[in-house]
Amino acid sequence: MIIAVDGPTASGKGTIAKALAAHFGLPHLDTGLLYRAVGRQVQLNGGDPDNADNALAGTQFPDELLDDPVLRNEETGGLASRVSIHPPVRGALNARQVNFANQPGGAVLDGRDIGTVIAPHADVKLFITASVDARAMRRWLEMAGREIDIPLAEIEADIAARDERDITRADAPLRAADGAIKIDTTHMDRDASVAAAIKAVIAKTGQAT
Ligand code: DC
Repeated sequence: MIIAVDGPTASGKGTIAKALAAHFGLPHLDTGLLYRAVGRQVQLNGGDPDNADNALAGTQFPDELLDDPVLRNEETGGLASRVSIHPPVRGALNARQVNFANQPGGAVLDGRDIGTVIAPHADVKLFITASVDARAMRRWLEMAGREIDIPLAEIEADIAARDERDITRADAPLRAADGAIKIDTTHMDRDASVAAAIKAVIAKTGQAT
């Protein structure tokens, strides 16, 4: 079974994808991490994330970089969003994601274009949303937990800018795939979001575990 989980930043899609993978016994790929690694590699190369050639060079990152906690930072998220608009970057990361999705037994992938581009044939496509306010507050709490002090207004502005870039880019923009089931987590906590997603997968596939 292939499950595609898409949505904007801090919507809860990562948490939901991980929980679905655990529940259904499937491997999970956080595709945002690949774009974050490219953004970080461009930074390490002293390159410009807005330059297509520099961004493409960043796709040659070593796999160990995927384990670097710096990839989780807001700054790296912004770099990822910038490198992700270049079609050659998306092309270079495509095969890795498609192969992961199509492995025997299936997989759960989360990102922006899983249901639209990487696995349009997924058995279940989920589109996770939440208001900008709710997403900014989640990100702020997460940062506070890591003792990183960023004003809420700054996080809100950053999320809005990232949404705008992800939604308006020409290649593989963020949007709900045809047939995607939408889950709005604005008023849901972690457990309620995960329960709603599991329920949706069971309703769609008839498969309980
Ligand atoms: O999900 P995330 O915040 O880690 O993603 C970081 C950026 O990577 C996001 O702003 C856009 C890009 N991205 C993408 O273009 N396609 C994906 N499948 C996943 C992420």
